[in-house]
Amino acid sequence: MKKRVLSGIKPTGYVHLGNYFGMIKPAIELSQNNDYEGYYFIADYHALTTLENAEQMQEYLYNVACTWLACGLDPNKVVFYKQSDIPEDFELFWILCNVTPKGLMNRAHAYKAVVEKNNECGADVDFGINMGLYNYPILMASDILLFGSDYVPVGLDQKQHIEIARDIAHYFNKKYGSVFNEPEELIQESCQLLVGLDGRKMSKSYGNTIQLFTTEEVLRKTINKIVTDSKLPGEPKDVDCTLNKFYKLFVSSEKANEFEEKLRNGLGWGEAKKELFEVANNYIKPMREKYFYYMEHKELVDKMLQDGAKRARAVAKEYLAEVRKLIGTDK
Ligand code: TRP
Repeated sequence: MKKRVLSGIKPTGYVHLGNYFGMIKPAIELSQNNDYEGYYFIADYHALTTLENAEQMQEYLYNVACTWLACGLDPNKVVFYKQSDIPEDFELFWILCNVTPKGLMNRAHAYKAVVEKNNECGADVDFGINMGLYNYPILMASDILLFGSDYVPVGLDQKQHIEIARDIAHYFNKKYGSVFNEPEELIQESCQLLVGLDGRKMSKSYGNTIQLFTTEEVLRKTINKIVTDSKLPGEPKDVDCTLNKFYKLFVSSEKANEFEEKLRNGLGWGEAKKELFEVANNYIKPMREKYFYYMEHKELVDKMLQDGAKRARAVAKEYLAEVRKLIGTDK
């Protein structure tokens, strides 16, 4: 039987280069491999922990959906859907809540980070924490276990969530009998430390991202904001700089070596940024065209997601029927 690969993106902001190289690109490569059967989705109910309103939800939801398609996901080859269309997911979520120790959730990084911040500034420990944030890892486990996933391609920041999903599968299997696969994370080692404009990790929360799909002009302006040192043209540049880290993402190793040579020989930062813009823009352009095409034909995207949801639910229903039998609610 083919191994199942599943991954999701939460629509809480515009997809950026860190998301693309860290997760989307490797996930799409796997989706094109015939040894695997792919489930790719938009985790819109996960986004509810932070989104403020319906317009924002719509905006980011289509951004993620069109990004998946523009980057090469083929909805005829994989099952492509949005989480909120799969009611079985939320039913399984509730069942899984009952085999999940509260202590396991207390140790989840995202939750713990808010608690620690509250403690540091003397606020109530629960300040700003809703139950969506607290239960987030259980819903994620449900997303994954519902389809019998074997592998989950994710960025490094999601590693703990997959470990938790594995633990939850194990608790359920031990209590009721083996029904769930224990999934494994697939992490793209080479792209784990994608830096942002300022050299820190690229992250929406640092405001240092480069959005994947914008106009050429915005891309150029964003690249111009990459922080450099104050060395003048003619002075040798450190090839360990942020700008060079970006350049390497878009080119072959041969071209990367040529560029490093130029930096060592004193290429000015202004010129270097121009060259980076050229290679980045050439790389992104064909995908960007597709992206804007889908953004202008949202009815096509809606249709694909509806078809996907049907296919996903057919599989999900089988799993859930097994689970209901084991817990005794099938009659
Ligand atoms: N938590 C993931 C993120 O923030 C999104 C996500 C939700 C996910 N459910 C998933 C990823 C299941 C992989 C598998 O990016």
